[in-house]
Amino acid sequence: MKKLIEVERMENLFKYEFDISHDFKLNYKTNYGFIRSLCTKNLVSDINSYINSIKDYQNFVQIGIGGSALGATSSVEFLGGIYHNYINNKKYFVLDNIDSERMDFALSLDAKKTIFHIVSKSGSTIETLSQFFIIYERLKKTVGKEVNKHFVFTTSKKGFLYDFATQNSIPLFYIPEDVGGRYSVFTSVGLIALSFLSYNIEQFIEGAKTAVRAFRNGWQMPNDFTKFSIGEYKNGKNMLVMFAYKDALYGVADWFRQLWAESLGKNGVGQTPIKALGVTDQHSQLQLYQDGPKDKAILFLDTVSNKDFVVEEPLSLPYLKSRNLSEIMGIEMESTHRALKENGVNCGTIFIKERNEYALGALYISLMIATAKAGELLGINPFDQPGVELGKKYTKEALNR
Ligand code: PA5
Repeated sequence: MKKLIEVERMENLFKYEFDISHDFKLNYKTNYGFIRSLCTKNLVSDINSYINSIKDYQNFVQIGIGGSALGATSSVEFLGGIYHNYINNKKYFVLDNIDSERMDFALSLDAKKTIFHIVSKSGSTIETLSQFFIIYERLKKTVGKEVNKHFVFTTSKKGFLYDFATQNSIPLFYIPEDVGGRYSVFTSVGLIALSFLSYNIEQFIEGAKTAVRAFRNGWQMPNDFTKFSIGEYKNGKNMLVMFAYKDALYGVADWFRQLWAESLGKNGVGQTPIKALGVTDQHSQLQLYQDGPKDKAILFLDTVSNKDFVVEEPLSLPYLKSRNLSEIMGIEMESTHRALKENGVNCGTIFIKERNEYALGALYISLMIATAKAGELLGINPFDQPGVELGKKYTKEALNR
């Protein structure tokens, strides 16, 4: 039978392989809020036209925490590399911690050239609001009446931020009710920063939509990822290491760490996600992964490099001569994989063959589907976070005392 064009596109975009020890029955249904969010009417055009209205600004500061920050940051790093701020005129910064040194830096930016994107689905997260108030009060002093022009909010259709934005004519975008923070990268939470940096958000969403269509038609990567990781969990592998073999993928591992932990860590079950960087952590963590307790499954994540360099003469080491850095990195990853397998550690690999918005969209949605499917297998609701909410409640109670 002829393969559907979407399935073929995904097979050409990803190379993947997993050691699957349990063949669970998983369906291809995708009735999830984060998938519906791909079809939000006018979202791309509304964001692009807002960005057009602020095209003279130079700095973009995302203020949010957890799901309100990690997706935007990992996208910027995947597409622009970890040195994006050194090589581009438009800069992206994130305040996802209430460390005063970050605040000090944010306040040192030229306020006249800076947009602050305040993101909170609940509209009441303490970290986000406290940072917003400090910056808002400071900007009132530096830019005066223009203060509101330096803000854009993403929140729900109710709550403090919603009220504040409507009362002060601050541009406002919404997080749909059925999309949780860590699943919100395809809403304005993740899109506004990308559009500010001139990335193609239409392609980003198109990649995700194509991956969903491919999945509905039997493309297996998301379900295979679930079978691998949950199969390993059933084998006693309580930890899942995402070993990112490019600097630019380390942010994706950070984003995934939250997705997997917060979605599946409930009712006494869950698999602890760990992020590691190849090749750097071969000289830090690998000894433990190889030879320590057999409680980990490893997922290698790799992609193409935008740059490459040849190891040139003078050299008398034949195995290095004329090798490219990316080639050496690839060989190191394969060798690490081989050594782990010889030690009885089960592994998976996902290689992303393109480094663009489309590929990133397809990768994110595949990992989100895999997480939702893992929740179904474990009998867990992957979309709530009661533990996080309890911590937030106690913090508010303590602050009120
Ligand atoms: O994924 C989640 O739901 C959380 O990580 C939230 O994104 C995080 O707690 C921030 O919440 P809020 O967006 O309400 O400020």
